[in-house]
Amino acid sequence: TAGPDLAGRRVVISAGGTREPLDPVRYLGNHSSGKQGYALARTAQARGAEVTLVAANTALPAPAGVTVEPVGSAEELRTAMRRAAAEADVVVMAAAVADFRPARQVAQKIKKRDGVEPEPIALVRNPDVLAELAAERRPGQLVVGFAAETENVLAGGRAKLARKGCDLLVVNQVGGGLAFGTDENEAVILAADGTETPVPFGPKEALADALWDAVSQRWSPA
Ligand code: PMT
Repeated sequence: TAGPDLAGRRVVISAGGTREPLDPVRYLGNHSSGKQGYALARTAQARGAEVTLVAANTALPAPAGVTVEPVGSAEELRTAMRRAAAEADVVVMAAAVADFRPARQVAQKIKKRDGVEPEPIALVRNPDVLAELAAERRPGQLVVGFAAETENVLAGGRAKLARKGCDLLVVNQVGGGLAFGTDENEAVILAADGTETPVPFGPKEALADALWDAVSQRWSPA
């Protein structure tokens, strides 16, 4: 493992998957476990960083020495991330954030009625937290995104890097048992300067360390 090359750096990471409430008992969600984001938090802490982890609906033990802020919905995650980002040297969006939420959140549990067809669920767009963080970043602050793609992985990642305006973007293939909920991952780290660094299939900690290497290099070029 690397030395304390992140000493004195403030790192903010989002992990897990947002839940967008439909009524008091139901939500729209995704399969993120938070493992990739927690691996990023543990490795950054081990490399000397001061780490804040904004955790959306995870069931993982809080890493020692890391500040954990639990959130539920994309809107809550956005508030926590923007507040923490104001103080951060690097922001990493590893959470799976819902692009849409139900247009209406009903106050009481939705009931089924005999002979009545269910109402369709109307959706509205959620804010794009990563794009906002990138647009608002201070000079010298790095903003890192992830891209979860089920097909045309590299092309999708390159397009997202440009669209979101972040400095680095980690693209990983998902679906068919890959990445979501597992202990291993495989990815390519794309940089805004055109550099592309493949990270072979291995523990999520190895991908996390490769990302901190890329971040650390940008702060103190060899
Ligand atoms: O948690 P695990 O089980 O370990 O799984 C890890 C993972 C597969 C969730 C992780 O490696 C990963 O890919 N995270 C990003 C998931 C995602 O939302 O990807 P996306 O391609 O839909 O979004 C692209 C980027 O924009 C992401 O950084 C995302 O956090 C961000 N985003 C997306 C939508 C939105 N409304 N706001 C955002 O900030």
